[in-house]
Amino acid sequence: MENKLAINSPYQMDFSALVKVEAPATVANMVCGFDVLGFAVNEPFDKMQIRFKETPGITIINDDEYNLPTDPEKNVAGAALLAMMEELPSNIGFELTIQKQIKPGSGVGSSAASSAGAVAAANRLLHNYFSKEDLVRFAMNGEKLASGVKHADNIAPCIYGGVTLIRSIFPLDIVALTAPPLFVTIVHPQIEVKTSDARSILQQKVLLKDAIRQWGNIAGLVAGLLQADYALIGRSLEDVLIEPVRSILIPGFDQVKQQSKEAGALGGGISGSGPSIFMLSETHATAKKVEELMQQIYDGLGLDHHTYVTTINHSGVRFVDSLITEQTPS
Ligand code: HSE
Repeated sequence: MENKLAINSPYQMDFSALVKVEAPATVANMVCGFDVLGFAVNEPFDKMQIRFKETPGITIINDDEYNLPTDPEKNVAGAALLAMMEELPSNIGFELTIQKQIKPGSGVGSSAASSAGAVAAANRLLHNYFSKEDLVRFAMNGEKLASGVKHADNIAPCIYGGVTLIRSIFPLDIVALTAPPLFVTIVHPQIEVKTSDARSILQQKVLLKDAIRQWGNIAGLVAGLLQADYALIGRSLEDVLIEPVRSILIPGFDQVKQQSKEAGALGGGISGSGPSIFMLSETHATAKKVEELMQQIYDGLGLDHHTYVTTINHSGVRFVDSLITEQTPS
């Protein structure tokens, strides 16, 4: 591949530079938009920092309890950085420290936060040499490592912030959507569902009548978001293809969904490939009510769980404390 930085970049590696980022959790699919819709939330998020190192290659340091691989080829952040480095001079080296706060296998974009956070942070070191679309392209290699397939419905919102529509991944076509204020309640029952497993149980063929219903809902949801029509958003949060199959992996799913709607939530469903469940509400008070009932349901089932009441994150990966000396291109 063309060595773009070597040919074009006027910048030098600055070994004193350090970039710290917070990479947000994301809710993929948004119920009806399997692999094509997703949004970022303000909580939880992973913390990461990156610097250049004098030796070429990638060093990964884990500063958390998850014992994830430090071999870059086996680590999703490493896989994303390796893809980026194919388009950089071969003498570049990065040292990446990861403090994960999003539990792997939770369904709120843990692997995407690592992959997207790593390449967004590295790009800041490189004075934003690459575009956001490039970063999505690199970070999808992390998703491929985690789930066996490239998908961008966690990566794109993590990098762009807000709600994103991924109209296509080959070639990449990402549309950032506006959305009215929404409160998000998430419950993460403490079981692990691997995305690769949750994908392998899906049917490869769908009935035309189900497809019609699904694309009506996707179009309705996008229109509802753009027009700030809460009732339309609520009506469109329906998934006739994926949820009926996957929800059997999540204890308490039907109860959470039904009772959340009775409590006034607009609607919701499985977050990504689960096991987390999310619900959208128009007010903070409703989102808190939904949190309480989620806690009651999982307490009743005797299943450990974490809950979050948060809002849509509109900035994507957040830069904190970047120690970068701005260089004048030479
Ligand atoms: N769209 C992907 C899936 C998201 O549902 O398999 C995984 O987080």
